Amino acid sequence: MADYILVLDEGTTSTRAMLFASDGVLVASAQKELTQHYPKGGWVEHDAVEIWQKTLACAQEVIPKAGGAAMIAGIGITNQRETVVAWDKETGEPLTRAIVWQDRRTEPFCIELRQAGHEVDVQKRTGLLLDPYFSGTKMRWMLDNVPEVRAAANKGTLAFGTVESWLTFKLTGGDHITDASNASRTLLLELAGAQFDEGLCELLGVPHSALPKVVDMSGPLAETEVSLFGRAIPITGLVGDQQAATIGQACLAPGQTKATYGTGAFVLTNQGTAVPHSENRLLGTVLTQIGGERTYAIEGSVFVAGSLVQWLRDSLGIVEVASQTEELAQSISDTGGVTIVPALAGLGAPHWRAEARGVITGLSFASGKAELARAALEAMAHQTHDLATAFAADGTPWETLRIDGGMAANTWMAQDLANVLGVPVERPDFVETTALGAAMLAAAGAGLYPDLASAAEAMCGKLTRFEPDMADDIRQARLDRWRKALSAA
Ligand code: G3P
Repeated sequence: MADYILVLDEGTTSTRAMLFASDGVLVASAQKELTQHYPKGGWVEHDAVEIWQKTLACAQEVIPKAGGAAMIAGIGITNQRETVVAWDKETGEPLTRAIVWQDRRTEPFCIELRQAGHEVDVQKRTGLLLDPYFSGTKMRWMLDNVPEVRAAANKGTLAFGTVESWLTFKLTGGDHITDASNASRTLLLELAGAQFDEGLCELLGVPHSALPKVVDMSGPLAETEVSLFGRAIPITGLVGDQQAATIGQACLAPGQTKATYGTGAFVLTNQGTAVPHSENRLLGTVLTQIGGERTYAIEGSVFVAGSLVQWLRDSLGIVEVASQTEELAQSISDTGGVTIVPALAGLGAPHWRAEARGVITGLSFASGKAELARAALEAMAHQTHDLATAFAADGTPWETLRIDGGMAANTWMAQDLANVLGVPVERPDFVETTALGAAMLAAAGAGLYPDLASAAEAMCGKLTRFEPDMADDIRQARLDRWRKALSAA
């Protein structure tokens, strides 16, 4: 019986195919790193052909482990959000490199829009702010700066899409669709709107005809071309990675909150069916759309988390592997005053300062590898604390925080988060909740479960709990030190 779910988890730094049994157990996986292109300071690009070919290769490696394509009930695709691919619908080839969510090149256009007074209305309608992070201004940049993109727009063959949309186009041989969670990151979708909004497209100068159709996140959404896997496999789940992690953590009731520490750190609190509005520079975003019905979340997006540890490893050579930071942090009782503000790609929520850059304060001759590694981990709690303050001011304080993502495996960091936030932190034994959430949507969409709630109940795993355990004066001193360093970023 076909009861495996194949998840394609296309993140910022790697792409993976993961095979799940219907009870949520991971059976097999294959992974390939993606090349990061940094053509200029603040620019980050990906090669969309590389994303497609490596994703396909991973899928083809894993499918035989299920016993063949006939055993796969459905495919779930989850992806780095906001990253924009432009391709030609006729040739199926990209017209330029993908502009990645971290890319800051559209800041001048965002400033122009802000100065023209558009931010309040845009935030009310889309839940987002006028920041280069979101897809819409990246699309406009491509139209203005890449002649091939403009020519395709004039010819009517231009397709824009986020990565799930690109992969679906390639897998199906031509379906141009996007799911509501990814669509809600473009600045072009009203939070309550079924399809992309003509007025917002006009404001940003993006042709409506180049955009995909917005579809549900679970259900019979599309089918793969027979030639790829020997049979047409239904695509039954499509979801942005942070929404996927929220679902994978079973945060399906209003108020439940998760934080994912991947390349960046993203905190989402379930808001139920009410369209959210933040007064504190947080984002409103679509959490689920099933059968045309939506639920929403409030989100705090921090741009640098695991990428800071990667930088310590690859650029400074302080550790050989990321997990060594745990041992180093534990080896000392404090950082000796060293504080890192990881604004290497500007600052996201709740500060939204695209021009900010990273700083390290408090260095002395006593500062070494351990101090820097510990300061990097401490920065995760500090950044998350800034979000907690904004969420509380918006009337959605966290009672507990469920954490996941590669960095959440770091037990020292998990305890430090509980200490600094002053709330219990819960970590599932299986921290790949992004892939698990996509598997839950795809399993429900394939009919293995009657609905998402039943899929989540059957597929989610056990949790470990970390209780806060830090004296108040120490916590306050940490936060004071952080605020001082932040003002220098
Ligand atoms: O919004 C960006 C986010 O989707 C990227 O996620 O997993 O690559 O940190 P990740």
